[in-house]
Amino acid sequence: MAKISIAGATGYTGLELIRLLVQHPEAELITLTADSHAGKNITEVAPSLRGWVDQPLVKLDPSIAEGCDILFLALPHTAAMGQVPGMLRGSCRIIDLSADYRLRDAAVYGEWYQTPHLNPEVIKEAVYGLPELHREQIKGAQLVANPGCYPTGAILALAPFMTVDWVNVKSIIVDSKSGVSGAGRALSQTTQFCEADEAVSAYGLGEHRHTPEIEQELSGLAGKSLTVTFSPHLMPMKRGLLTTAYIDLKKEMDRDGLHAHVAQFYDSEPFVRVLAPGRYANTSHVAGSNTCDIGVQVDARNGRAVITSAIDNLMKGASSQAIQNMNLMLGIGETTGLDHPPLFP
Ligand SMILES: NC(=O)c1ccc[n+]([C@@H]2O[C@H](COP(=O)([O-])OP(=O)(O)OC[C@H]3O[C@@H](n4cnc5c(N)ncnc54)[C@H](OP(=O)(O)O)[C@@H]3O)[C@@H](O)[C@H]2O)c1
Repeated sequence: MAKISIAGATGYTGLELIRLLVQHPEAELITLTADSHAGKNITEVAPSLRGWVDQPLVKLDPSIAEGCDILFLALPHTAAMGQVPGMLRGSCRIIDLSADYRLRDAAVYGEWYQTPHLNPEVIKEAVYGLPELHREQIKGAQLVANPGCYPTGAILALAPFMTVDWVNVKSIIVDSKSGVSGAGRALSQTTQFCEADEAVSAYGLGEHRHTPEIEQELSGLAGKSLTVTFSPHLMPMKRGLLTTAYIDLKKEMDRDGLHAHVAQFYDSEPFVRVLAPGRYANTSHVAGSNTCDIGVQVDARNGRAVITSAIDNLMKGASSQAIQNMNLMLGIGETTGLDHPPLFP
């Protein structure tokens, strides 16, 4: 049994980690941390977990890394950034769900997160935790930077097109829609029921912090630096993330040809379902699961490929992807504890 601790256990991603780990055959929960809820029992903060877990919540301290094999950091960015080098000194391996170690360039982090990176030297040790792209490196990593939710949906939609010579990577548009849990559990005006219900709003246009992360991974695949136009939207639903991506085609393609290409690209991936031609991604078909659905179309009049992807932002966009990474790091079956169908309806 692997000894597992979670920092930030009372947040939305931390609670999803607990829900998955209490059912995981190879995991034993050791320490759960909280901030404002420290001192309480986890079931006081998460009544849904009664009967599954019964543990006190302690304050975050770097020493929690000493007693565990895997430490999940499910904290706001910067909350543990400075503590990570100390936590890595022993044999503990870290999966960080925050953005702190996702960007390879500390200057880019500083620019987009408006705070200097505290440990640029540790960034090079981190592996970007998208198994579909970096599976082999994740297996041996001591620090995995779990991807953001929007980047997961966008990169999986676009990755199959980065290595072909029949698209123009200069004109990529990524339009994404997220459920409100994407903003976390902390209170804010925009995520209050009266503000978010019955409303769809665009935000962060041209400046959302997930933009450089999408560009970093797509550029790595394409072998050249590229930029994307990324437009996120907030949707009146609890969870789910739908992406519609547009990329210009350099030659005539039909929908079946595009579908065949994407299906071939993800042929051996356990969590990516490439939908039959004519079917498009829907968040309610992946909810509660580690699945990413992808559906493709060709806009022949305008010479564009249109790619849709759907994930659950708290699952493939965060916690279940983190468990997929944990499985790879522990050398156990990649689908262990994640092998269940989505929730529907
Ligand atoms: N939500 C998503 O869909 C999603 C998807 C991908 C990645 N992420 C990333 O995952 C991380 C966690 O997100 P979340 O949505 O779970 O956030 P959240 O719901 O706001 O939870 C944050 C957690 O961190 C604790 N915390 C807050 N400030 C802290 C501090 N200064 N020191 C120590 N602990 C602190 C909170 O404890 P208390 O509750 O006790 O105050 C809570 O347990 C974030 O970096 C987020 O960007 C989120």
